[in-house]
Amino acid sequence: MKKVGLIPGLFAFLRMLKARNEKKAAADGNTREDPITALAKAMHPDALHLIVTQVREENATVKTYRLASRNGALPLFKPGQYLSIKLNIGQTSTARAYTISSAPYEADDNGYYEITIRHKKDGFVSPHIFSSWEEGTEVDATGPHGDFFYQPLRDNPNIIAIAGGTGITPFVSMLKQFACDANAPSLTLIYGCCDTDDILFEDKLKELCSDYPERFRRFNTFEKCESDSGLRKGFITAEFIRECIGEPLEKSFFICGPEIMYEFLAKEFARFPGLEYKQTRYELGGMPLNTGRIAGFPKDAMKKNVMLHIRNEFTDWHIPASTDEPILVAIERAGIILDSRCRSGECGICRSKLISGDVFIIPDKDGRRAADKALGYIHPCSTYPLSDGEILIPPGRPAQT
Ligand code: FES
Repeated sequence: MKKVGLIPGLFAFLRMLKARNEKKAAADGNTREDPITALAKAMHPDALHLIVTQVREENATVKTYRLASRNGALPLFKPGQYLSIKLNIGQTSTARAYTISSAPYEADDNGYYEITIRHKKDGFVSPHIFSSWEEGTEVDATGPHGDFFYQPLRDNPNIIAIAGGTGITPFVSMLKQFACDANAPSLTLIYGCCDTDDILFEDKLKELCSDYPERFRRFNTFEKCESDSGLRKGFITAEFIRECIGEPLEKSFFICGPEIMYEFLAKEFARFPGLEYKQTRYELGGMPLNTGRIAGFPKDAMKKNVMLHIRNEFTDWHIPASTDEPILVAIERAGIILDSRCRSGECGICRSKLISGDVFIIPDKDGRRAADKALGYIHPCSTYPLSDGEILIPPGRPAQT
């Protein structure tokens, strides 16, 4: 058999796709929709049309929003998955990924999803949500998405869940769902909080751990607490993890929290000889806000202004951008619509072609396929501009469909 290289193979595939689409367009339209495709579309709709049915204050800076469907059943999901919430703020169309904090069984029978959001004082999206979402607010989203969930073929049934602050959300969903199934994995939660006011879902965590002591355990540690409080003070170190779970080998670690916690834990995990990379799974955390903390980011390119020539098939724009922000942020700020979902380089929905210019992509956040790397594609959500440049984005479409 004749061997074909990667690039010629790709072009052959694209020619085949074009021929197929031409044949479809030339058909008489008397075609029946494949029932399997119809079922798949019903189970995984392109867009979710939701409505806020309850707002709950968890503490001074965190609220939980309950979302029901406006037009039918909610798609199934696995505990640990997220919704991509579509937002229009001023002239900016954007999206944010929020992990579902409710359990899958709570979405059954016209039930609900819940998302739990921390108000960030200098943030762009959370202040908007806190000030404008109330009961009756209509919300559009896509999802559920993501692969931060337990998979029996891949993961050990002894899950060690490490959470920081609002990073507890996937684990409260897992605990609630696992409690319904005697064959579900066991879960040990190691929860780091700023102080006792920062603990979320305290009553639920307490209830589940006391109802299922042989399956669920919880350990807390605090950045700040009184020395005579009897609470553990400090970060989640290798020693503390060992104190909680014994030997870490043969276990699967699921980690969700702020980027700074991921950096800290990467160093602590290096102190467990024999722990394999595949045993640790990190929830997507968005992109770092401080390029000064990104290993390998070129020092001489920090905090510079550049101009980007953005174009799609129909229009082009010349927009200012900063080397300190992912390209997607500059595109959205200019009012250009570019679909996004994970905003962490993983899903590929924002895939665009870099025509010219220098960029920086954090190696850990480079979710591009090998062929895309070879052909010069980038994921603007996880790519920082280093110079002026030109980028071809996919045709825009309304953020709320
Ligand atoms: S939004 Fe997922 S890769 Fe960009």
